[in-house]
Amino acid sequence: MMMKDLISVRGLGREDILYILSVADRIHTANYSGDLLKGKILATLFYEPSTRTRLSFESAMMRLGGRIIGFSDPKVSSVAKGESLYDTIKMVESYCDIIAIRHPADGAAALAAETAHIPVMNAGDGANQHPTQTLLDLYTILKAKGRLDGLKIGMCGDLKYGRTVHSLADAMAHFRSELIFISPPELQMPREQLRELTQKGVKWRETADLQKAMKELDILYMTRIQKERFADMVEYEKVRGCYILDKAALQSARKDMRIMHPLPRVDEIHPEVDETPFALYFEQAKHGVTIRMALLALLLGKIR
Ligand code: NCD
Repeated sequence: MMMKDLISVRGLGREDILYILSVADRIHTANYSGDLLKGKILATLFYEPSTRTRLSFESAMMRLGGRIIGFSDPKVSSVAKGESLYDTIKMVESYCDIIAIRHPADGAAALAAETAHIPVMNAGDGANQHPTQTLLDLYTILKAKGRLDGLKIGMCGDLKYGRTVHSLADAMAHFRSELIFISPPELQMPREQLRELTQKGVKWRETADLQKAMKELDILYMTRIQKERFADMVEYEKVRGCYILDKAALQSARKDMRIMHPLPRVDEIHPEVDETPFALYFEQAKHGVTIRMALLALLLGKIR
């Protein structure tokens, strides 16, 4: 597999995705940790808050014997003095072997990848893409359901600003599953992306009614309303708390339905759901380390 960067799932075909998942599964099965990336340095450049993504990238690098530099708060880096992303990348690329970047602007990771001669991984750019999250989501679905084809996958919540669902829908276009987009009218999937899904022959539909959709789903992918992306807080207040999943709401769900969430959650999944067999989100977060180990090893050319 030859890829320099991972900026968008759009650059990946079905076989690429399955290959990455198979590498992750080998790492998972062997419970691998070792010196594969000894002497290598990962820079984590996080211009936006993160818990899981940054820490699982760092844990993954350490489990492979590598080391880490970076920042998680741009206020303490030269960004606060007005340094451009271009200049930052120009410097950082000589300090490390691979970069993971999260940035509030759509397209920032692509710009970093064009600038850098070393591999760049997109850890989330604005409302655009979050490819490493998508790969761990796919791995989670595959582990839970044994397949990625022939499923009914509901994506619920903020489909307008949620980069995790944008990436996931793009990736699912390679698999013969049906996508049900559940959101209030204000937070629907971007029209352009829906048109593309149609062109690719993906079966999808939209609804605002989570209860109605619930009974047919194999996977329900819940998301947080992305408060920080709203230009107008009045608009946010209108949709805040629009879906709250509690035990009662799950009555009509299939017994083998599973709930995923990229986390962090606010109020969209009640904690009482955590101890039900439906909850898959903590398991999902665990897979973040495995997937990022696979990606680091692949992009640094240690696994082919
Ligand atoms: C997501 C993100 O940053 O897009 N979090 C994550 O990486 N697990 C989801 C979110 O912030 O709602």
